[in-house]
Amino acid sequence: MCGIVGFVGEQGDALPFIYAGLKRLEYRGYDSAGIALASDGQIALKKTRGKLEALGQLIGGMPAGVPCGIGHTRWATHGRPTDENAHPHTDCTGTIATVHNGIIENFQELRQWLVERGHHFSSDTDTEVIPHLLEEYGGQEDVVQAVQKAERRLKGAYAFLAISAREPNRIVAVRRSSPLVIGLGEDANYVASDFSAFLAQTRRAMVLENGEMAVVTPDAVHVMDMAGAVQRRQEFTIDWDIRQAERGGYPHFMLKEIMEQPDVWGDCLLGRTSGGAVVVEELGITREQLTAIRRIQVVAAGTAYHAGLVGKALIERLARVPVDVAVASEFRYQQPVFEPGTLVMAISQSGETADTLACINLARQEGMKTYAIVNTVGSTLARESDAVAFTHAGPEIAVASTKAYTTQILVLTLLALALAEAQGRARPDLVQGLLNLPLLGQDILSRLDGIQTMAERLSGQSDVFYIGRGLDYALAMEGQLKIKEIAYIHAEAYAAGELKHGTLALIEDGTPVVAIVTERDVAEKSISNILEVKARGAEVWAVVDEKLQKELPVDHVIPIPVLEPLLSPVLAALPLQMLAYWTAVHRGQDVDQPRNLAKSVTVE
Ligand code: AGP
Repeated sequence: MCGIVGFVGEQGDALPFIYAGLKRLEYRGYDSAGIALASDGQIALKKTRGKLEALGQLIGGMPAGVPCGIGHTRWATHGRPTDENAHPHTDCTGTIATVHNGIIENFQELRQWLVERGHHFSSDTDTEVIPHLLEEYGGQEDVVQAVQKAERRLKGAYAFLAISAREPNRIVAVRRSSPLVIGLGEDANYVASDFSAFLAQTRRAMVLENGEMAVVTPDAVHVMDMAGAVQRRQEFTIDWDIRQAERGGYPHFMLKEIMEQPDVWGDCLLGRTSGGAVVVEELGITREQLTAIRRIQVVAAGTAYHAGLVGKALIERLARVPVDVAVASEFRYQQPVFEPGTLVMAISQSGETADTLACINLARQEGMKTYAIVNTVGSTLARESDAVAFTHAGPEIAVASTKAYTTQILVLTLLALALAEAQGRARPDLVQGLLNLPLLGQDILSRLDGIQTMAERLSGQSDVFYIGRGLDYALAMEGQLKIKEIAYIHAEAYAAGELKHGTLALIEDGTPVVAIVTERDVAEKSISNILEVKARGAEVWAVVDEKLQKELPVDHVIPIPVLEPLLSPVLAALPLQMLAYWTAVHRGQDVDQPRNLAKSVTVE
């Protein structure tokens, strides 16, 4: 999703910071980029389709030492990824520049109105209405007032920055849903879509809330509502290590993020258990609230949805509380029935996924209690839910979610245990098992060399099936998503017992099938299903409970130590992530930024 960066300093040089900041936001996914500087009564502007390297070729000719500017990485929504459609966009006079994230829903009507008033447009974007509106409302004289007037005309979910060549010592930032954060430096201040853009400069930050604007100058940040009323805002310190946001020597962020999972699991569990029990307060909820829950409705998208499916099995088995799991983009438009006593639970890495946020807002409007399992501290979801449990996975840069997924499952496991206790159910002794996971994970990751051979074979295939039962089926769904999104291989996940109701027809000589067998209670049945596909010529690769490995008639085995079957999805996810990673590498794909995808989907 689009990345926004702004810099305003006493006498600093905006250009190198903005370019570096955009680099840090690359992980969000983009198809074009640009920078505008407010210099000598003019806007110096460079923008291009393609990656930042292409922009880097252009910016050499921009003026040096300019202390105010804005930059943008665009992920196309309105208009194709072209040079013209890249941000920043300017008004007719070329003295006001804006960058924007999100969607202006009524841009057609505004554009027509502006054209009738003599404005000339040079792009197909919704964004371009903003600088023209600012021009219309006197932005050349007073950009702050113009922003306030223009903002009243806009409908949608967006964030934007505006600069004026006539006022080269301030940036006006507006937030209407899409996130914007502010970094506080010594003799410069920063604005960005997320903290990682300015972590190398400062750790002091503040968040712009929904419906607010900020006037950012080199030595001050004035936060106000859209009517101009001053809003008090506390600054805070970001404790993310900058190195956490870098690749740490790995060729791709995805590999780094897979490998760091055992450490991250430790961080996620830290302080959340004591004496064999879950410390409920560390999950952002009270025992009384847990006791009152009659049903849980999970809303999420993509990988987070798959974590929700694992969570459903854990919560229903341990706490006997019914759980429904819905894809957020569907749920929000299905006129859902909210029964009293239902906890609406959102799961999200970014905390900015538009559909997931919409579900939470809908639930709140209906008077429901909302709970979020989120990775990103300070995200909209974290702030707009009644209660929050953070996954503490650290920044996840690769578009393909890995460590966010396994930590979401860990938090769901803790929650299931706490809920079981609060609901008076017998609590199985899983806490020690949870604490053992980091060591077991290290061990699995150190023994995955054989996966290279599978990945090489899979890289030449066009289809693959993932099968399993129960928790293994939920995990199969995540396995197939990983291979689709980064290796671009068609994949399907099937409940193993469902194969013979249709899908078996697709199995022929050499069809690859990844089977997951960690659920002991249904292992025999899963083995029968493996025999069915083997009999039709499938090449079967199995991620299995190591105790079963000798019994399995398969082509390759990846054994997993299953000390406690309910915890196996976290461990069994590792080989599936690695299989997808190495298959994508063998196919020469852009692993961290797969085509057509964005890390944070802030539009529906
Ligand atoms: C996972 O690999 C995906 N890139 C995607 O499905 C992601 O999980 C989904 O868009 C939800 O994002 P969120 O967790 O930030 O809400």
